[in-house]
Amino acid sequence: MKILSVVGARPNFMKIAPFIRAINTYNESHPFTPSPPHPFSLSPPPPISHILVHTGQHYDDRMSKAFFEALDLPDADIDLGIGSGTHAEQIGNTMIAFEKVLKAEKPDWVVVVGDVNATLACSVTAKKENIRCCHIEAGLRSGDMSMPEEINRLVTDRLSDLLLVPDRLSIENLKAEGVPDIRIKFVGNIMIDTLEDNRNKASVLQLSDIIKGNAVLDYQFHPYIRDEHYALMTMHRPSNVDNKSVFSSLVHFLTREVSHDLPLLWPIHPRAMKNLEQFGLWQEVIEQKNLILLHPVGYHEMLRLNIGAKLILTDSGGLQEECTVLGTPCLTLRWNTERPITLREHGGASVLVGNNIGRIRSEYNLARNLSRTPVRPELWDGHTAERCLQEILEYKEG
Ligand code: UD1
Repeated sequence: MKILSVVGARPNFMKIAPFIRAINTYNESHPFTPSPPHPFSLSPPPPISHILVHTGQHYDDRMSKAFFEALDLPDADIDLGIGSGTHAEQIGNTMIAFEKVLKAEKPDWVVVVGDVNATLACSVTAKKENIRCCHIEAGLRSGDMSMPEEINRLVTDRLSDLLLVPDRLSIENLKAEGVPDIRIKFVGNIMIDTLEDNRNKASVLQLSDIIKGNAVLDYQFHPYIRDEHYALMTMHRPSNVDNKSVFSSLVHFLTREVSHDLPLLWPIHPRAMKNLEQFGLWQEVIEQKNLILLHPVGYHEMLRLNIGAKLILTDSGGLQEECTVLGTPCLTLRWNTERPITLREHGGASVLVGNNIGRIRSEYNLARNLSRTPVRPELWDGHTAERCLQEILEYKEG
C-alpha cells in the first residue's frame, strides 16, 4: 500500500509525526517476504510505502524546520514551496503543484490532517484524481464561517472517504451533516500522542534557557520568573490581530494589566509581529519590561512553558487541547471553538473570552486563583496514531 501524507503549516507537524512512526512500526513488525522469494531482490519493499509532502505554507526555520528536527520527522520527500499569499493563491498554487505529485506517485491514500489551507487544497485535489482521502482530526466545527479553518474543515470532511475523529462531539457534528456512520471512526486525539511522547524531554528544559534562547530583544533573565508564576500568551487569528482596534485593546490589556500582575511570556507569530509594527504598538510592548516577547518557540519549549504557566491566554486550537491534558487554566481569545471538549463545561481547562476586555479581565481574575487540574478525554491516550493506521488498513468501501 502506498500512503501519501501532507503537511503545510506548523500545527500539522505534531499531528503527522506519530502517524509516520506508526507506519514505521507497522513495517518493522510486518516484514514483506515475497513468495516465492525472488533470487535477485536485494531489499524487498516495505508493506506500506510512505511519502511525505510539505506544501511549504509555513517556511521559516522557526515555524517549520525546527519542528521537523524536534519531532524527529523525516525530511519531506517533496516540498511544494508554496509560501505566503492570499488564501486563493495558497490553495490554488497548492492544488496545481499537488496534482502533478499525485499523477506521478499514484498513491492508494492521501492523508490530510487538521484544518489549514493545505488540508483543503490536497483533499480536493486527491478526490479530483479519484484517490482515497483520509482526514485525521475530522468533525470539528466552530459554526463560524468567517474562520478560514472552518471552510477548510467542511470541504475536507465532505470529500474524505475516511473521517478519523478526536472525540464523540465530532461524531455528532458529522452525523448532523448526514455523513454515513461507516465513514466515521473514533480514534482519539493524535496531538496528544506527540505530547505524551515528548513530555519528559520538555519538562527538563530550563525556563531561563528558553527565554534567553528565544527573546526578541536583549533580555536579562529574572529569577522571579518561575513555575506557576508567569502567564503565557499566543495570538495569531486574523480576527484578533488583523483589526487595529481589536488588536490594540488586547495589547493594552497585556501591557497595562496582565504584565503588572505576572511576568508575561509571548512567543509571537509572524502575523502578529507584523501588525504590532504596522499598528504602531511596537514601542508600547517593548517598553513593558515584564512582557517578554519571544520568537516562535520550538515544540518542546512551548510544552515546557505550558507545563509551568499559571495560566494561558491564546487563540490557538492546539494549545486549548494541550491545556486540557496538562490542566493549565486557559483563556481562549475567541467567541466560539471547534474544540468544545476542551471547555470547562465539558471537563476541560479552557473558557471562551472572545476579545471583550471586560470579559477577559474577569475570567483572568478567576483563572488566577485556579489550580492546575489535568483531565484526559476518552481515547486521548497517546495511541491514536496506531488506531488511525489500523482504520486505513481495514478500510472497506462503504
Ligand atoms: C495558519 C493556519 C492556521 C494555523 C496557523 C498556525 C490556514 C488558513 N491557517 O495561519 O489554521 O492555526 O497557521 O500558525 O491555513 N509567515 C511567515 N513565516 C512563515 C509562515 C507565515 O512569516 O513561516 C507569515 C506570512 O507571510 C503571512 C502570515 O505569516 O503573512 C500568516 O501566515 P499564513 O500561512 O497565511 O497563515 P497563519 O496565520 O500562519
